[in-house]
Amino acid sequence: MSEAKRLAGEKAIDYVEDGMIVGVGTGSTVAYFIDALGRIRDRIAGAVSSSEQSTARLRALGIEVLDANAAGPLKLYVDGADECDPHKRLIKGGGAALTREKIIAEASETFVCIVDPAKQVPVLGRFPLPVEVVPMARSLVARRILALTGGQPVWRDGVVTDNGNWILDVHNLSITDPVAMETELNQIPGVVSVGLFARRPADVVIVGGEPPRVL
Ligand code: A5P
Repeated sequence: MSEAKRLAGEKAIDYVEDGMIVGVGTGSTVAYFIDALGRIRDRIAGAVSSSEQSTARLRALGIEVLDANAAGPLKLYVDGADECDPHKRLIKGGGAALTREKIIAEASETFVCIVDPAKQVPVLGRFPLPVEVVPMARSLVARRILALTGGQPVWRDGVVTDNGNWILDVHNLSITDPVAMETELNQIPGVVSVGLFARRPADVVIVGGEPPRVL
């Protein structure tokens, strides 16, 4: 599978223009994109990063990492996903970086999502839905999610996000209306962000393969 991830990550370089500040996601597919970005680092102005993990990889390759507030609106964001439906709506957060990823996606004109074919699903929800929560609200949010969705929230014990919060993974969902579920779960006090990227889906999906498919 890593060959498909590499092909998707390298294909996303097609969307990088000279002088850009590039929004950069998190994960094993994005790692290939970052490595490819390193090879053209003199052509870009820098990156805005969605995680400490990606920041370290970018800096190791000599790419300047800029503060999101200073960078302002971005033209391009490249990130992976845990699931992708035919409408380019996503589940993300398997790497616990969903909140910063969502901020950068929202700030970006074009969101290019890079996936291997195993991430494509007809309906989202086979991958447990990550929800970032303020620690003191963990139990409350879990109860509300169970009541609202029927899904089983499981605490990702031992994981602390880059923002100092915790993750609940919601199992056994079949998400037929991702926009509605994202909106509803966002209203629960203590929810920092929901790993559904449906209100702001990807604009382009690159499925790794020989050759990569651009959707
Ligand atoms: C990080 O929190 C996730 O949203 C990632 O985008 C996702 O887990 C990436 O998956 P891969 O590691 O398979 O690229």
